[in-house]
Amino acid sequence: MTAPVVSLREITAETVRTICELEPHEAQSGFVAPNAVSIAQAHFNPAAVFRAVCADEDPVGFIMWRPEDDGASSFLWRFMIDGRQQGKGYGREAIGLWLKSLPPQGYRLARTSYVPGDGGPHGFYLAQGFRDTGETRANGERVMELAL
Ligand SMILES: CC(C)(COP(=O)(O)OP(=O)(O)OC[C@H]1O[C@@H](n2cnc3c(N)ncnc32)[C@H](O)[C@@H]1OP(=O)(O)O)[C@@H](O)C(=O)NCCC(=O)NCCS
Repeated sequence: MTAPVVSLREITAETVRTICELEPHEAQSGFVAPNAVSIAQAHFNPAAVFRAVCADEDPVGFIMWRPEDDGASSFLWRFMIDGRQQGKGYGREAIGLWLKSLPPQGYRLARTSYVPGDGGPHGFYLAQGFRDTGETRANGERVMELAL
């Protein structure tokens, strides 16, 4: 069997409820906001872009990013793969698609931040090539970046 093709797709009136029902494992709930909250926040940040992560036709996750003020970096604001769909390479594929989309838009740096803690995404981001900047945001999140 061939592996499902991962894509980042626009969320529509037809798919928004399904996306809002995607959740990480309960123990991971402190690492990312519910998708409904992220979509609501995007409403107040017109520069934010959000997409469903799909495996073939199935929505399996959510990704949202926004440009930073310097114009050269894009900030991965929210990212999750549904608990039942984790460990299948979808997270890696989705981040790869996002990273690949940035240089043609003029970005030279990808940045993100994470909540430190057991079971958190720090190791995942390291495995995707991000490095710690040493910076801690006011909300306690640690910043990582990847030169494109
Ligand atoms: C982090 C997350 C998106 C990873 O998604 P995923 O689809 O399970 O990841 P993948 O299956 O693509 O894993 C890719 C690689 O990263 C590794 N990996 C996955 N999660 C990891 C973690 N938390 N720590 C260390 N390595 C991890 C996998 O073992 C795999 O390694 P391999 O390339 O050697 O096989 C997912 O665990 C998640 O949604 N977590 C909860 C929400 C969250 O923390 N989001 C980030 C907010 S900043």
